[in-house]
Amino acid sequence: MPAILLAVTGTDPQPWQARLRALAPKRDIRLWPHGLGDAADIAYACAWHAPRGLFTRLPRLNAIFSLGAGVDHLLADPDLPDVPIVRIVDPDLTRRMTEYVVLHVLLHHRRYRLYDVQQRERVWREHAQPPASAVAVGVMGLGVLGTAAATALARLGFRVAGWSRTAKTLVGVECFHGEDALDAFLRRTEILVCLLPATPATGGILDLKLLRKLKRDGGGGAYLINAARGALQIEADILAALDEGTLAGATLDVFVREPLLAASPLWRHPKVTITPHNAAFSDPHALAANVLRQIERFEAGLPLEHVIDRARGY
Ligand code: NDP
Ligand code: OXD
Repeated sequence: MPAILLAVTGTDPQPWQARLRALAPKRDIRLWPHGLGDAADIAYACAWHAPRGLFTRLPRLNAIFSLGAGVDHLLADPDLPDVPIVRIVDPDLTRRMTEYVVLHVLLHHRRYRLYDVQQRERVWREHAQPPASAVAVGVMGLGVLGTAAATALARLGFRVAGWSRTAKTLVGVECFHGEDALDAFLRRTEILVCLLPATPATGGILDLKLLRKLKRDGGGGAYLINAARGALQIEADILAALDEGTLAGATLDVFVREPLLAASPLWRHPKVTITPHNAAFSDPHALAANVLRQIERFEAGLPLEHVIDRARGY
């Protein structure tokens, strides 16, 4: 039977291997680097930050599966063979991201950091609390994750808008698209959530110039939540925006360099909330079945789902 190779760095591949083996005991599942064996046996690669040049050495490769929603880690390989690249789209991943976005929007909206400081100082002081309906949240990226998050926020009563590359229609969400509409989207947005893929078109998009366009006169100030990729943000610009008051706070799950260096001033900034790139963890227990289902489709002659467009970069 054609073999499946797990090529993973930066996270433990064992849970993936164990889950794939439990779900498909007859499959030949191999672990890079030591379990690779004969490269000509490998028909499918499941990858997360695999070493560059590995896939081109697999002569019978049919498809590459990203073990996450993003594929920038694959497209960074200049030697990618011409096989379909499939990404994860799964309700488990989507729900996790929705939880994260809702949590951090509410954290800023309900002034959680302020009350946390007050608690430590035993201060009993109430602050003005606008209703959600007075707060404009803007979601950059209206794909699988952005749509789910925007819809959940709209259900909570926030004034939600989204921005995407192509036109969209979403119930309860004001939709903007294209570069020409970006300024209008930013000008009406107080809490900016980024769920864009990292592509040549989006790299460094979260810079000071963009952040200065956010709406700040709504009472709460402007906030940034980046749960997408570090490559989208200019970290020095986010610090400058916080220090000059352009941003009242930021939640960052992703960084230009991960793990975030201990020396980064972001760690200790009083207005920054940091999480270790776990906004939506790719849980092997939930997602291994997703990958196997795709392989079964391929072997049954059905089209693979969620194949990315290499030219677009997502
Ligand atoms: P999708 O591919 O479903 O959606 C991407 C969205 O971004 C689409 O709406 C797309 O527009 C829009 N977009 C892409 N390029 C541009 C552009 N140049 N200008 C405007 N809009 C653009 O991706 P997902 O929603 O599944 O995931 C988004 C990203 O989230 C992933 O790429 C990954 O990097 C990140 N992620 C982070 C995780 C974490 O734990 N921190 C976990 C999972 C994902 P259009 O609809 O018009 O094509
Ligand atoms: C992903 C991620 O892309 O975990 O799924 O970042």
